[in-house]
Amino acid sequence: MRIFSGIQPTGVLHLGNYFGAIKQWVELQEGNFCVYCIVDYHALTNENTVPHELRTNVKELALDLLACGIDPERSILFVQSAVPEHTELCWILGCVTSFGDLARMTQFKEKARGQEFVNGGLFYYPVLQAADILLYLADHVPVGEDQLQHLELTRRIARRFNWRFGEFFPEPEPILGKAPRLMSLADPMRKMSKSYGPEHYIGLMEPEEEIWRKIRTAVTDMGLTPGQTMSPGVANLFTLLELVAPADVVEEFRRLHTEGKLLYKDLKETLFRYLMAAMRPLRERRRELEAKGQIEEILAAGAERARKIAKGVIKEVRARVGLD
Ligand code: AMP
Ligand code: TRP
Repeated sequence: MRIFSGIQPTGVLHLGNYFGAIKQWVELQEGNFCVYCIVDYHALTNENTVPHELRTNVKELALDLLACGIDPERSILFVQSAVPEHTELCWILGCVTSFGDLARMTQFKEKARGQEFVNGGLFYYPVLQAADILLYLADHVPVGEDQLQHLELTRRIARRFNWRFGEFFPEPEPILGKAPRLMSLADPMRKMSKSYGPEHYIGLMEPEEEIWRKIRTAVTDMGLTPGQTMSPGVANLFTLLELVAPADVVEEFRRLHTEGKLLYKDLKETLFRYLMAAMRPLRERRRELEAKGQIEEILAAGAERARKIAKGVIKEVRARVGLD
C-alpha cells in the first residue's frame, strides 16, 4: 500500500491522536511505503496560531512522532510547507472541486459557526488535504473517524480530475484504528480534542500527576439513555482500558460491571497503571531524542525525499491540465 497521513502542529499530541491515528501510522510502516506529514499550512487556518509557537510546535510534534515510533529510515517524515507543490496541486484540484461539497463539510460548519471572521483557508482546508494525499498517489490514509468526510471528498476530487483529464489519481481509502473516536474524559459526549481546552484531552507527554488527575475526575455518573447498559463516560474508560490492558483484565472489569459490583475508583486506578506502562517507553524515548537534537536534519532529509515525488507528480499534472 501507499500510505499518506497528516497531523496539525497545534501544540500537544493527545491520546485521541495516538490511538486514533499515530499507532496505525507506526504499524503500517511494516511492509508499506509511508509518507507522514506535519501540516503547518493547515495550522494557519487557526486564527490563534502565533508564528513563533508554530515553529516550536512543528519541532515538538516531530519529536513526539519519532518517540511514538515513526522511523525516518523507513518512512518519509516531513513538514508540509517545505514542499510548496502541496499548494500548487491544491489550486489545481480546487478547480475540480464542487463549491457545494465544500460548503457541506461538517468540520468547516463547526469551526465557522458563531465566528465573526471566517477565513477562506478554513473553507479550502479539505482541498489542501486532498492535495496532500494525491500528491503522493497514496491509496490508503490512516485517520480517525472525524476525517472520513474529508476523505470521501478527496475521492470525489480524484474521480472528477480523472474524468476530466484522464485516469491518474487513485481513490484513497481510509484505514481506521481500534479507537477511531476517543471521547473527552471531562465530557464523554464530545470527542477528545485540543479545541475544547486542556480538560478535554490527555497529552501523551503530560506529567503523570496531571494524567492521573484527569482520569480520577473522569465523568462516570451520567444517566443512561434507554437501551444503554453503560454510561458514555464508563464506556470511554473501557475503550481506553482495552487499548492498554491485557484481555483478561478487561474481561474481569466487564464482569464486575455486569454484576453491578464495579468500583469506578478501581477501574480508574487500573487504567492509569496500564496506560502509564504503555506510555512510559515513549516518554523515555522522547527525552533521548530531544537530547540528541537531530530533528532539523531528519525533517530536511524527509522534505527532500517528499519533494522528489511531489515534483514528478506535479509535472504530470501540469501537462495533463494544459499548463505545460
Ligand atoms: P489533528 O490533531 O486534528 O490534526 O488530528 C490528527 C489525527 O488524529 C487525525 O487522523 C484525527 O482523525 C485523529 N484524531 C483526533 N482526535 C481524535 C479522537 N478523539 N479520536 C480518534 N482519533 C482522533
Ligand atoms: N485534516 C487532518 C486533521 O485535522 C490533518 C490532515 C491534513 C490530513 N492533511 C491530511 C490527514 C492528509 C490525512 C491525510 O486531522
